[in-house]
Amino acid sequence: MRRIGCRVISGKEIAESVLDRVKAHTCSLAVDGIRPGLAVVIVGSDPASQVYVASKAKKADECGFLSIKHELSEDVSEAKLLEVIESLNFDLSVHGILVQLPLPGHINTGKVIQSISPEKDVDGFHFMNVGRLGTGVLDSGFVPCTPAGAMILIQRIHGQDLSGLQAVVLGRSNIVGKPMANLLLTANSTVTVAHSKTPNVEALCRQADILVAAVGHPEMVRADWIKPGATVIDVGINRIGVREAISGTTRLVGDVDFDGAVERAGAITPVPGGVGPMTIAMLMANTLSAACRAHGRSVPSY
Ligand code: GUN
Repeated sequence: MRRIGCRVISGKEIAESVLDRVKAHTCSLAVDGIRPGLAVVIVGSDPASQVYVASKAKKADECGFLSIKHELSEDVSEAKLLEVIESLNFDLSVHGILVQLPLPGHINTGKVIQSISPEKDVDGFHFMNVGRLGTGVLDSGFVPCTPAGAMILIQRIHGQDLSGLQAVVLGRSNIVGKPMANLLLTANSTVTVAHSKTPNVEALCRQADILVAAVGHPEMVRADWIKPGATVIDVGINRIGVREAISGTTRLVGDVDFDGAVERAGAITPVPGGVGPMTIAMLMANTLSAACRAHGRSVPSY
């Protein structure tokens, strides 16, 4: 069934609206001499991580934040990394700390994440923040940036209360799938999490009023997996080779076959320009929230 009215959700525009609010609130804090501070720690020289970290630091600058970057060599010891985090935990000018993942194999990632003060854990990966989200406590703590951003897009379509809606989350990662499912559940939708061991995924997806794809498989979700009129949120960012083009040419695609899905969905996020821009906007929003809480100020909503 072709849907003439499929809405292509501009994550770029909605992210800009979040960032405008972050910037305005940051200006109002500046009157009282408060400046949100974000510290990003990167270990090694992985090109993709370098690009991500540079864009996070740039966005923090644009928001008027203090932006600190710690670059550590690939062979840095775990003890040294923990020392850097400890000093950031005590630094009053730093409200948010993000350690870019993945870390080199000799470092215990879990130990590093749990060493970040929960009050500064703007990634929302600390057990304390995972527990808050799991128990539906959203007004303190931090929600991981990608699902937080995806949720704003969903609520721009369906409103705050998702009662009566069936949501299917494809993927069960700690960074996206699990927190996404918790957010959808807290908003009263009926949630199913599907993953690589789930039989008959297509039939499950066809029941979804809200389908979130976060599996990391290029264009896995086909048009006939989608319930006509559903909202489709594509979290995947996959770089694939372009078959017809000169070798070496690549393009970004999501986990959803966009061209097919747009014919059936009621609303859909594109890749790029959908969830991606929301992730970085929510990192700024989380950092601002951390600064507001540290100074006893009210936290803006988005
Ligand atoms: N690497 C890829 N995604 C993320 C993320 O959301 N946070 C951190 N810290 N590292 C990442």
